[in-house]
Amino acid sequence: MTTFWDRKEKPYILFLFCLPFIWMFVSLLMGQYFPDPGKLLMRLSGIWASVSVVAVMAMTLISKLKPLKFVNRYRRFIGLTAFFYALLHFVIYLVLFAGLSWTWISSDLVEKPYIYVGTLALVILAILALTSTKAMMRRLGKKWKSLHRLMYLAAVGVVAHLWWQVKDDISLAVYFSVFLVPLLIVKIPTLPVYKKLFKKT
Ligand code: HEM
Repeated sequence: MTTFWDRKEKPYILFLFCLPFIWMFVSLLMGQYFPDPGKLLMRLSGIWASVSVVAVMAMTLISKLKPLKFVNRYRRFIGLTAFFYALLHFVIYLVLFAGLSWTWISSDLVEKPYIYVGTLALVILAILALTSTKAMMRRLGKKWKSLHRLMYLAAVGVVAHLWWQVKDDISLAVYFSVFLVPLLIVKIPTLPVYKKLFKKT
């Protein structure tokens, strides 16, 4: 009999990734985020989206070590988690921040240009989530890998979003940059554009 899960530990891992969401949801229902649930939920969802982006990026590197190659099995899961929390952050923005008012959103878009880079990262995560299935991998062939390199652009977008939205406290931007910037730098020599530029003649 074929089961929905290709590995039996996957439902537990999925539960683990859902825990922050369950915790946010239960705390909201218990009234812990009042009087301004939007502000806190925006922060928490943004933090979990950023944590997942760091995890996906780190996995690419970690999986190069032979004994840790197995982490590759969970890469898609973590990528989908990043997309889920980024989407949640976006929905919280639309519903709790903007009250679904287009007039409010359009003036906010003028005031806060960092929303554009956040949206770029979200759109990339959505594209990667949609093309993460085995069927899409087969269909796209060699193009799949190039497409999934867009993850680096999404990470650049996240770093820019975090620094740009700083008001007074820079701690979050610093914490995530400490992980994301080195993970991006070590990837530069493997990028096709770098190889082309520095190809030995
Ligand atoms: C992968 C995508 C994204 C990540 C990882 C992310 C992450 C974060 C984080 C960690 C914060 C800091 C919250 C704080 O310090 O209170 C933040 C703030 C913010 N984000 Fe995002 N974000 C993403 C996409 C978006 C999108 C698509 C939008 C809106 C359409 C958005 C709108 C905002 C706004 C308005 C704030 C400032 C909140 C405030 O003033 O308290 N973000 N984001």
